[in-house]
Amino acid sequence: MKTLKEYAAIVENRFDALLPELSEGTCEIGGMPWLLASSMRYSLLAGGKRLRPSMLLACVDMLGGDVEAALDIACSVEMIHTYSLIHDDLPGMDNDSMRRGRPTNHVVFGEGQAILAGDGLLNNAFETMLKCGIRYPERALSYLKAINEIACGSGVTGMVAGQVMDLYCEREKTGDEAALKYIQRDKTACMFIYPLRAAGHLCNADEKTLEALTTYGEAFGLLFQATDDLLDVIGDSKAVGKTLGKDAESGKLTCISEYGIEGTRELVKREHARAREAMSLFGDKAAFFNDLVDSMVERTY
Ligand code: IPE
Ligand code: IPE
Ligand code: MG
Ligand code: MG
Ligand code: MG
Repeated sequence: MKTLKEYAAIVENRFDALLPELSEGTCEIGGMPWLLASSMRYSLLAGGKRLRPSMLLACVDMLGGDVEAALDIACSVEMIHTYSLIHDDLPGMDNDSMRRGRPTNHVVFGEGQAILAGDGLLNNAFETMLKCGIRYPERALSYLKAINEIACGSGVTGMVAGQVMDLYCEREKTGDEAALKYIQRDKTACMFIYPLRAAGHLCNADEKTLEALTTYGEAFGLLFQATDDLLDVIGDSKAVGKTLGKDAESGKLTCISEYGIEGTRELVKREHARAREAMSLFGDKAAFFNDLVDSMVERTY
């Protein structure tokens, strides 16, 4: 097993091959225009913790699978996550001007291009994942199952659903504890649950394993969004790389608006315990995941 930093570096090093840089003015028939490549690369290569792809690779490692064959699936998860951030920051959504320590995509490239950069990353992710199945036809079924998990987690019953209800509750000034749970599970936890389940399928995992990964992903995701909501209030903008204080300003339904700071800390503790409990199925092999969730409780970025 490697560290988060090591998995993140493996993912990082693969992006140039999956999304090459194009020199200014390049726009050949059948090819990608340089402007699209540079706007996609601007956000994808801006750093970021690379949690989701690293967790996918670590899970494949933990289950004794082929990490190399999972790499493009992991990179695709990060492309989908990055697209979700570009769109999340748009004026019509959270209207944010800082992300990953730099001006947001729409501030640099304009709103229309930012929408298209997000579209490009989403599509490129699915192209990249489908090519894995074509490249290794003997593993096509496990790739299909993995890609299906990622499509579900990022789609209309997952991340997109959560984002819709997040905006709805903000706009209508409505929402209760159940709405908050729905939003945070879908917009954030699904992007942890489903990549982990995808890793499970790549290793032909049994139902019990998939269930444990689902519970860990859900608890980790709810904890992660709760700490994101906390950081929006008590974080340091430079460390986080985003403009803070926006949630209260826009009247967003968050853990803070529902439970307050202390109540949110309680929730973090509960989900931390639930995540660790889920991983007990894997014993010592789950050290990466136990350490990771421990490190999230007091995260500062
Ligand atoms: C930000 O995710 C969006 C949330 C779900 C809170 P991350 O905090 O993982 O963002 P990066 O990838 O490190 O920039
Ligand atoms: C974002 O939640 C979740 C997704 C991008 C899907 P937030 O809106 O709280 O994330 P930040 O704070 O902008 O990173
Ligand atoms: Mg948002
Ligand atoms: Mg946001
Ligand atoms: Mg936030």
